[in-house]
Amino acid sequence: MTVQTFIPSAVKAASENTVTQPTHTTDVSIKKLYIETQGCQMNEYDSHRMADLLGDSHGYVLTDNPNDADILLMNTCSIREKAQEKVFSGLGRWRKLKEQNPDLVIGVGGCVASQEGDNIQKRAPYVDMVFGPQTLHRLPQMLDQHQAQVEKPKKEKIKLVDISFPDIEKFDFLPEPRVEGFKAFVSIMEGCSKYCSFCVVPYTRGEEVSRPLDDVLAEIAGLAEKGVREISLLGQNVNGYRGETFEGEICTFPELLRLVAEIPGIGRLRYTTSHPLEFSDDLIQCYRDLPQMVSHLHLPVQSGSNDVLQAMKRNHTIDVYIDKIAKLRKVRPDMHLSSDFIIGFPGETDEHFAETLQFIKDLDFDHSYSFVYSKRPGTPASDLPDSTPEQVKKDRLAQVQQVIKQSSIDKTDAMLGKIERVLIEKVSDKDPNVLVGTADNTRLVTFIGDATWVGRFAEIEITEIKTLNLVYGELLNLEPDVA
Ligand code: SAH
Ligand code: F3S
Repeated sequence: MTVQTFIPSAVKAASENTVTQPTHTTDVSIKKLYIETQGCQMNEYDSHRMADLLGDSHGYVLTDNPNDADILLMNTCSIREKAQEKVFSGLGRWRKLKEQNPDLVIGVGGCVASQEGDNIQKRAPYVDMVFGPQTLHRLPQMLDQHQAQVEKPKKEKIKLVDISFPDIEKFDFLPEPRVEGFKAFVSIMEGCSKYCSFCVVPYTRGEEVSRPLDDVLAEIAGLAEKGVREISLLGQNVNGYRGETFEGEICTFPELLRLVAEIPGIGRLRYTTSHPLEFSDDLIQCYRDLPQMVSHLHLPVQSGSNDVLQAMKRNHTIDVYIDKIAKLRKVRPDMHLSSDFIIGFPGETDEHFAETLQFIKDLDFDHSYSFVYSKRPGTPASDLPDSTPEQVKKDRLAQVQQVIKQSSIDKTDAMLGKIERVLIEKVSDKDPNVLVGTADNTRLVTFIGDATWVGRFAEIEITEIKTLNLVYGELLNLEPDVA
């Protein structure tokens, strides 16, 4: 779990422009917003949107220094207990800032907000606003309401808590996304209806709701016009996408991919996260038909044991997963596969764990994420008996992570001599003759080239492995600009 200070590069660039956008350090009249983002890519996406919203509605500019901000927003994660604990320790630090500056506004959003609601203000009364992942678009109004009652005596103030799930209206109220560079995230659906027995997401983000097809396509076409070349479609369960078309029909995820691939300018397509159950043959065919689809798939499986999968309510067996990956590798032999694993789920025996370890080795995963199971209140798994000592779980996790790490190293090493398709993203900070891009498998690739090539795709032969995430190469072919 990462805690990040969120500063989109467009804002950084804006604050570097001292003529129109003086930086926070020089101009006290500019109102400043600090956002701390915890958790998944959905939260990162949401934080970007919060910044856009408050920038457009109230003129807030992002700062990377909480001491300097007029508003502090914490976009929280409750997927594991540890992540949730961070919220209150972080808020404790912000309380001190509020003691020094009583005008400071503190807001808590994201999944902990959704789960705890007004309990947040019971534990941390200095928090002014609580909003959920589906109500962040109401932040400007909430802020107005807050400002309107600042002067009122405490007992007359209404509590500003809005953690409802108002369908998909969020997207109708968000400003057009700002473009930074050549890559963009596009949220296509919200929530999850899978109800895996360990997971809080269906409760904190609500059931699956898909954005209408035309909205998604229009957003992507707009991004492509502004120079975006790589799109990552986002959702908790993207392959459950069922977006309504203009004619009132339903568009599936593979159909959406085919339509996105037709948009001029979109040279590369990623998505996260998908579920094995809905990883359909039609989706596999997209990998055969659409060159824009990267040879990289993150497909969470959670365990390599059928007993554990059943207890997790994943609704599929290991064989189903193995078969789908085999089919996929038939149409894309160079497929890089990554996954999520939960270790020490209640009832996981040594044998179950051994099956998981073997499964990880057999499937030849690239980088994967693994965590010890964390009991989440309100989830069905929280009632399961769990007699495995914590230390045993930690030891198992260490073994899994070692295998995963070695596998990542092997995958990077195997790139030597191969040809990778790379999106050229920038000129190296260190050398103006060197370009930096990303391969399908997300490794950074550097090579000698011309600054005018930035934003285009190139075939690069890998000539040297530098680190786990950095390789050097030589240009073989520069693709024409896809726009
Ligand atoms: N939509 C994704 C998962 C989203 S949650 C899917 O299809 O599986 C991201 C990851 O967090 C999960 O894949 C899981 O590995 C991990 N996770 C979720 N709940 C957890 C819990 N209670 N304890 C430990 N890890 C958990
Ligand atoms: Fe969670 Fe399972 Fe959905 S892990 S996000 S309930 S697919």
